[in-house]
Amino acid sequence: MNKKLGLTALGASLALTLAACGGEGAGSNTNTADADPSDLSIGVSMPTETSERWIADGENVESQLEEAGYTVDLQFAGDDIPTQAQQIDQMIVEGADALIVAAIDGTALSSQLQAAADQGIPVISYDRLIRETENVDFYVSFDNFRVGEAQGTALLTGLGVTDEEGNPTGVTGPFNIELFAGSLDDNNAGFFFDGAMSVIQPYIDNGTLVVKSGQTSIEQAATLRWSQETAQRRMEDLLTSSYNDGSVVNGVLSPYDGISRGIITALQNAGYGPTQDAQPRPMPAITGQDAEIASVKLIADGVQDSTIFKDTRLLAEQAVAAATAYLEEEEPEANDTETYDNGVKVVPAYLLPVETVYQDDIESVLIESEYYTAEEVAAGQSD
Ligand code: BGC
Repeated sequence: MNKKLGLTALGASLALTLAACGGEGAGSNTNTADADPSDLSIGVSMPTETSERWIADGENVESQLEEAGYTVDLQFAGDDIPTQAQQIDQMIVEGADALIVAAIDGTALSSQLQAAADQGIPVISYDRLIRETENVDFYVSFDNFRVGEAQGTALLTGLGVTDEEGNPTGVTGPFNIELFAGSLDDNNAGFFFDGAMSVIQPYIDNGTLVVKSGQTSIEQAATLRWSQETAQRRMEDLLTSSYNDGSVVNGVLSPYDGISRGIITALQNAGYGPTQDAQPRPMPAITGQDAEIASVKLIADGVQDSTIFKDTRLLAEQAVAAATAYLEEEEPEANDTETYDNGVKVVPAYLLPVETVYQDDIESVLIESEYYTAEEVAAGQSD
């Protein structure tokens, strides 16, 4: 349940307003509870437009905030850290009453967030935890460790080593696998990798799975900025260095659909596939995340094995609920107050569940929920 702030806190925020008004005059962001929503502006900072999930996130947050009557300033930062910092500075100068931020680099926004705190502007960390600052009020995301576990289980299922619930089938391989991780400056990357390894490691230990390159640490597996091209190059290098003896790759742990597409391109260029049924070198079992439309088509076509669906419509709802709570001088509802230590404090969080999507689940999970239409899946493009 939401809790009203006590009178003391209200008094303190009133004092802050007065202090802020005595200064630059920007961001008169307290007493927002009495304001008409249309007089309140919310800055929404998203990392990049190169991945469709962030475009969908931005648009969902924007439209839901607008439906609630707020004015919205939505910016994408082109995966460039200084651009994101500058956009947030600008939002504060222009008087934002709340900020919703999906950071490129989780540690790079400290001075902006200090400025926000100085003006009493609540900050909601969106999907990626902002680290090393006390000036982040709330975190909305998915259960990120669980995403990794689901990816690990999907890899094992794709290889036939377990069923979809993770129960061993008795198949013991050995299978050659390679491991990819996300961008190390994104707090989620570690959760995904650790979650996946918690499921996979026992099968490496008992010899069912062999990481032929030997590259098993997150530092070795990482992909700066989650870049598709960087992943493609690393997969090409792995094929050259570790599979030039006639051996084949049977599975690849990939943390994100864009990375999976880079891996697939490298493998297809090396004579794998095009599908998982093709001979003489079937496409390996490759995991993913985000159910990006291009990758859902690859799954429908039997090229990629799985993805993890995160319903960004629900995440946007949680972000909007949290922003609304703060603007009404209430506390947002958290369902996790332990997991997300940002290095300075444990940030209260609302975490959403995730779902694994294999070929057979596209209809029931993605089309029936109206995330995509059947036509979009067939085309590999969303409207
Ligand atoms: C998100 C993932 C996404 C990745 C790359 C992560 O922070 O949680 O959903 O795949 O960034 O954009």
